[in-house]
Amino acid sequence: MIRKNYILPRSALGLLGLTSMAGCDGAQSALAPAGRAAVQIANLFWVMLAGAVVIWLVVIGLATYAKFINRKPHDSWRAKYLIIGGGVVIPTIVLFALLSYGLAMLPDLLAPAPAGSLRIQVSGLQWWWRVRYAGEDDRFAELANEIRLPVGEPVEFELGSADVIHSFWIPSLGGKMDMIPGRQNRLRLEPLRTGVFRGVCAEYCGASHALMSFYVVVMEPDDFAAWLATQQQPAQAPASPLAERGEILFQQLGCGACHSIRGTDAAGGVGPDLTHVGGRLSLAAGLVKNDREHLQQWIRQPKQMKPEALMPAFDMLPPGDLEALSAYLEGLK
Ligand code: CUA
Repeated sequence: MIRKNYILPRSALGLLGLTSMAGCDGAQSALAPAGRAAVQIANLFWVMLAGAVVIWLVVIGLATYAKFINRKPHDSWRAKYLIIGGGVVIPTIVLFALLSYGLAMLPDLLAPAPAGSLRIQVSGLQWWWRVRYAGEDDRFAELANEIRLPVGEPVEFELGSADVIHSFWIPSLGGKMDMIPGRQNRLRLEPLRTGVFRGVCAEYCGASHALMSFYVVVMEPDDFAAWLATQQQPAQAPASPLAERGEILFQQLGCGACHSIRGTDAAGGVGPDLTHVGGRLSLAAGLVKNDREHLQQWIRQPKQMKPEALMPAFDMLPPGDLEALSAYLEGLK
């Protein structure tokens, strides 16, 4: 009976291990690297793991030998050399080797991107990400919760925060970096293959910390240039009578006090820029798919989806108004 009880949690643990390993192939895994820094960090992990496994096997082997194979006590000088050798000399050599291997990577991981590289400003806010691509003159692109990058090019992120400390982390592309109010940190990343990856906030920052993620789309350089050119454009005019009504509602309800839609009167700087919101993959910082149903759900009850979000609820709107607003926003590609 006791034995049965003992096995159950162990098999449950095994299952947990398997499911968490299955997650390692995904869009958010440091073990499936897609960036130059991530490759180095993954190699470091495997070398450290191999070192730990070898040491574990040796220790368990010696313990087994002493317990089951040769139980005779050692004489005192042999015991002394075993303790000095196994307790001091070998750990010093092994740890020094592993530490040297790890430290040797630092200069390259911390080096800034070459002059002229793409620069992207990302600011952490409770609980979303403001992303800004500076262009020539006063052309710029601003969006939220989505970053697009050209493959094979180094990019420099300028990371800041508007409220509390957040941490910017795209496990597939590289290491994490804190976002600290009043300070600008830099992080260089270089994606090595195209794909859609996921980034997260890696520092507890309040009620909806776990709901603060974003998508990173790595594209061919030509596709990226075309995307960026579109993002720099002002918003498209509404394409249907329903969307036109949505634009008027957007102005009447005062949405523009918090949100910007470039090319219209909406110029608020509190919430995310919505100029091209319809072209984004997700809503509410990686929380849900960007479609009309979720747009309406978010406008109606944002705090139900994201506790303590600053966006006020518009659940008093009749369904027809919600339909019009979401049609307008969905059309802002
Ligand atoms: Cu932002 Cu955790």
